[in-house]
Amino acid sequence: MTPNLILIFFLLHLSLFKFVPQAAAAGGQWALLQPNIGIVAMHMQLLSNDRVVIFDRTDFGLSNISLPNGQCRIDKTDTALKTDCSAHSIEYDVASNSIRPLTVLTDVWCSSGAVLPDGRLLQTGGFNDGDHAVRIYRPCSDCDWDEIKSGLTQRRWYATNQILPDGRQIIIGGRRQFNYEFYPKTNSDSKAYNLRFLVETNDPKIENNLYPLVFLNVDGNLFIFANNRAILFDYTKDVVVRNYPKLPDQNPRSYPSTGSGVLLPLKSLQGGEIGAEVLVCGGAPKGSHVSAMNGKFVGALNTCGRIKITDPEPVWVMETMPLARVMGDMVLLPNGNVLIINGGATGTAGWEFGRDPVLKPVVYWPDNSIGSRFEIQNPSTIPRMYHSTAVLLRDGRVLIGGSNPHTYYNFTGVFFPTELRLEAFLPSYLNSESNNLRPKVISPASSVKIKYGQRLVVRFMVTGSVNRNLVTVTMIAPSFNTHSFSMNQRLLVLGRGNVITLGKSTYEVEVVTPGSGNLAPSGYYMLFVVHQEIPSEGIWVQIQ
Ligand SMILES: *[C@@H]1O[C@H](CO)[C@@H](O)[C@H](O)[C@H]1NC(C)=O
Ligand SMILES: *[C@@H]1O[C@H](CO)[C@@H](O)[C@H](O)[C@H]1NC(C)=O
Repeated sequence: MTPNLILIFFLLHLSLFKFVPQAAAAGGQWALLQPNIGIVAMHMQLLSNDRVVIFDRTDFGLSNISLPNGQCRIDKTDTALKTDCSAHSIEYDVASNSIRPLTVLTDVWCSSGAVLPDGRLLQTGGFNDGDHAVRIYRPCSDCDWDEIKSGLTQRRWYATNQILPDGRQIIIGGRRQFNYEFYPKTNSDSKAYNLRFLVETNDPKIENNLYPLVFLNVDGNLFIFANNRAILFDYTKDVVVRNYPKLPDQNPRSYPSTGSGVLLPLKSLQGGEIGAEVLVCGGAPKGSHVSAMNGKFVGALNTCGRIKITDPEPVWVMETMPLARVMGDMVLLPNGNVLIINGGATGTAGWEFGRDPVLKPVVYWPDNSIGSRFEIQNPSTIPRMYHSTAVLLRDGRVLIGGSNPHTYYNFTGVFFPTELRLEAFLPSYLNSESNNLRPKVISPASSVKIKYGQRLVVRFMVTGSVNRNLVTVTMIAPSFNTHSFSMNQRLLVLGRGNVITLGKSTYEVEVVTPGSGNLAPSGYYMLFVVHQEIPSEGIWVQIQ
């Protein structure tokens, strides 16, 4: 970044996000997209062709959609059905709002994944015959899953994946797996490595450190949070480089006390120049899971902890949410705000253990002052309890699916019947009153390839009057969402030069792309122009 751009970047930083939401004002709208997608949206991943790969588990019993081409799955080890001709994975096409069934034959239940630099989804693990499997899904209009049955050295059930700057993935933990491994395997790096932190944070009675929250820090190390604390981990040397303090209240935030967490927007383009911050919200107090097993549903946590993970003396700063929440999802929105959505107000994750759905999402404004950061949104009518999901779409909507706290598909006679409806939450920035402020990207064209630390000219239109100081350009990686965590979710605010007027309603801004793979691992991102908090529809860019 040149000195000018750095200066502008800092000025911009000061003036950004200064629109204070009205206290507790409701916002946002809901839309029902599909009354029945046939399966439970337990895992979701948006791909660069604007299709979302969705799957539940192959041992759920008969789903409501058939496998393609009259296929059947015959599996002697299946705990529900030995012969199952129904599908357990589908593809949702955003543009046409339609679905098609996909063929996944080994069990993908409670698995993990990430998108490779070339845009293919690499998904790992699951249960039973699928617990060592690696599956690849290539984005195309008639593609289907490829399964590699023994891709992993360890079984991975409830593990977390992170895409690394070299394009590999690290797969961390999973039930009774206090170790990590990489994929693809190399000759020199094909084994699993022990990770003591996963032993230390585990309570063997309830296994309360599953689906650890993992973020690639701007220095290239991994921030790994489990239970009530975190480490900074150098996976290249297999060493813990820092132990972060415990959350002040010491309450757990990992499965089954499931809270959620995000890496807040990265506003620097030079690693370490501006620190990275993590926000962890909700969860269930210590003891809640055992209480829920005994039929007592304890109130969820109403706190968030925020920590500057690059700080020499990092501390958790606690904030109070307007609504307590367990099993919430946290979604980074294109304008840098965080949507907190789904989940319940009492109980924990796990079969039948959650109660009191929280139907109202909350938007968190990271740059407002403490006390004016949370804004309650309009409610849905559909409970989204255990096994529900949320992912950002390129058009700025948030796709919401799933909820099935039962061992099988159970539609009647249960609390929170198996949910097959797919909805979208439309944040208030999509309101038509904002149309005159909304940018529309003219160029570059979608799917443009970009390099690291490159200057990129972005042209856009705005029909109303433009406040040049309130234009930003952001990039968001599409994340793998399951069990209240979005793996590989990250948002970069790009440094920029002046906004130049080109003609009536058309403008141009020069931005600098992220400087390294530590800031933005190679792959597809959605790029948005944001004006006064209102994002454009995104375009896909591929950084390499
Ligand atoms: C899905 O459910 C509908 C309504 O209950 C039923 O008519 C249909 O046969 C089911 N389809 C499959 C493939 O199970
Ligand atoms: C769910 O359905 C299965 C079989 O369809 C049944 O055995 C089970 O008891 C049901 N679960 C609940 C909680 O009703």
